[in-house]
Amino acid sequence: MSVCIIINGILYMLMRLTYLFIVLTFPLLVFSGGISSPASTTNHYKNEPILPIPLTISLDARKVKLGERLFNDPQLSHNNLLACSNCHQLLLGGDDGLARSITNQGKPDLINAPTVFNSVYNFRQTWRGAFRTLELQAEADLKNPRHGATTWDELLPKLIANVYYKKTFHSIYPEGITRKTVLNAIATFEKSLITPNSRFDQYLRGDESAITNDEKKGYLYFKQYGCIACHQGVNVGGNLFQKFGLFADYFSVRGNIKKADYGRFNVTGEEKDRFVFRVPSLRNVGVTAPYLHDGSLDSLRKTIEFMAIYQLGTTLPDEHVIKLELFLNTLTGEYKGQSLFMKEALR
Ligand code: HEC
Ligand code: HEC
Repeated sequence: MSVCIIINGILYMLMRLTYLFIVLTFPLLVFSGGISSPASTTNHYKNEPILPIPLTISLDARKVKLGERLFNDPQLSHNNLLACSNCHQLLLGGDDGLARSITNQGKPDLINAPTVFNSVYNFRQTWRGAFRTLELQAEADLKNPRHGATTWDELLPKLIANVYYKKTFHSIYPEGITRKTVLNAIATFEKSLITPNSRFDQYLRGDESAITNDEKKGYLYFKQYGCIACHQGVNVGGNLFQKFGLFADYFSVRGNIKKADYGRFNVTGEEKDRFVFRVPSLRNVGVTAPYLHDGSLDSLRKTIEFMAIYQLGTTLPDEHVIKLELFLNTLTGEYKGQSLFMKEALR
């Protein structure tokens, strides 16, 4: 009996140590990583496993403006109908509020459209983590037969024929309109899509009254239950791969398994990567319903319950789920000085 307790004790300590290791080394990973963080990130007041989004990001404003125009331009698609902004609507959560977007053939897409906000802080792009840079991601979206469905041979002449693009590209890039400069302009604009100043970030920066006691409780549960082991750092996610369904088989419960459900397996072809996904960012999660890569859940509360069952092997008391939801809603930030909101009309 006592041996059991000792072994249990040692196991528990090891678990705590692993957890502490992840949590404590995470900030080091962020600061040594590719992301250049302006001083405001490092100046945060609280020593927590979640870091505030910098209040500003320094980028060439001319490229941002040009990229914004491209992002909103349906000419970037083969049939001149679908702009990036159709599926990634910036006035909302940076997505489209649909379980699956409508493709350029008018059919539902294969996977839920993630938000484009804060994607600069994700270590890879897409649910399966297929791309390391925003440039490669943008090119994939342009060529994707369900999204842009275009080619460079088709797109570049269209842009060159446009007086605004011709003039503006030449004034910024000596080489003019090329694959590289188009992707650079789009990616630079995407880097500007950060949502700082959420109430939770205000709290991290030292304003104790920015979040309520119930929201603080929710954050405590987020750490105590171990959500934080997967969702942490500046994006509260976006920096790890994890299997979906660690403690129970989500996919056989849901049924109708499709190729898109294989996740990272579709990138590596390795069996260990089947059902593995990039852990999504929980920034603005209060306004980016529906949830999960299949867009199957409308309710954030239900998603939290699912996470507990499938990722932590536990069932949470209702009261804890409610507080966790309150906490997650404090992660909604601002774009161009305005708080993001959800498009109710689409729900
Ligand atoms: C028809 C809808 C649609 C259009 C149009 C579209 N996207 Fe997407 N976008 C998606 C979907 C769906 C995904 C997820 C793909 C996946 O995980 O395989 C995605 C993923 C992304 C991501 C990765 C986000 C993340 O968290 O991983 C970025 C960035 C992005 N798109 C930018 C763009 C840009 C730039 C354009 C225009 C060139 C564009 N999108 C056009 C639907 C669309
Ligand atoms: C072992 C890692 C892991 C743990 C622990 C974990 N998650 Fe997740 N979380 C994921 C992955 C992976 C996904 C993406 C699932 C999918 O494929 O759709 C996800 C998705 C989510 C989503 C949906 C995000 C979106 O935009 O669709 C929410 C909300 C969420 N998690 C909250 C939580 C909460 C709250 C906890 C703690 C109760 C938690 N997670 C624990 C890995 C984890």
